[in-house]
Amino acid sequence: MTVTPERPEHHGAVYQVHQEAFGRPDEARLVESLRRSPAFIPELSLVALDGSQVVGHILFSRIVVRSSTESHRALALAPMAVLPPFQRRGIGTRLVRKGLEDARALGHRVVIVVGHPRYYPRFGFVPAEPLGIRAPFAVSSGAFMVRGLEPDALLGLEGEVEYPPEFAEV
Ligand SMILES: CC(C)(COP(=O)(O)OP(=O)(O)OC[C@H]1O[C@@H](n2cnc3c(N)ncnc32)[C@H](O)[C@@H]1OP(=O)(O)O)[C@@H](O)C(=O)NCCC(=O)NCCS
Repeated sequence: MTVTPERPEHHGAVYQVHQEAFGRPDEARLVESLRRSPAFIPELSLVALDGSQVVGHILFSRIVVRSSTESHRALALAPMAVLPPFQRRGIGTRLVRKGLEDARALGHRVVIVVGHPRYYPRFGFVPAEPLGIRAPFAVSSGAFMVRGLEPDALLGLEGEVEYPPEFAEV
């Protein structure tokens, strides 16, 4: 199993991974539209490969946390999926860990996720709302989480998250 940035020949398989894991095409289409967006970071669209087969994918895109006085750049972790027959074998864990590591190496400081409150805390994510970071849509507060990639990354960070418009399609 390897985790590596996707290449163009993986695009079709990445679509299938999301389609099958979520049981609908919305997230697969989101990935396709984000690839054409300025928010897209090619180095942070990672595939998990079993041999040459794509069995998982994770994407981190540019977002902004905007308060009345300041804007901070951050990343959204979304979407992530593992092919159903390959789930619960640690592949999702590998994707998140490698993604966070690569994001930090590229100089990114903050990652925000909307996800299951029992899954993401193991990677250091904490509830974002108590820190004053707000989602632009209704979300149960425990599901909206943030992870600083540097010790001081969350200091003074507050405001509302601005997602790329492509997210409105999901
Ligand atoms: C979420 C997902 C990517 C995890 O991938 P994975 O390779 O199965 O994850 P891992 O094997 O690393 O971790 C398994 C752990 O995740 C937990 N888990 C998996 N899916 C979960 C979910 N939807 N809600 C809560 N916990 C979940 C399992 O209970 C397991 O926990 P445990 O280690 O305490 O038993 C995968 O299950 C998936 O593709 N799900 C459908 C799509 C989805 O919901 N994506 C996430 C939202 S963007």
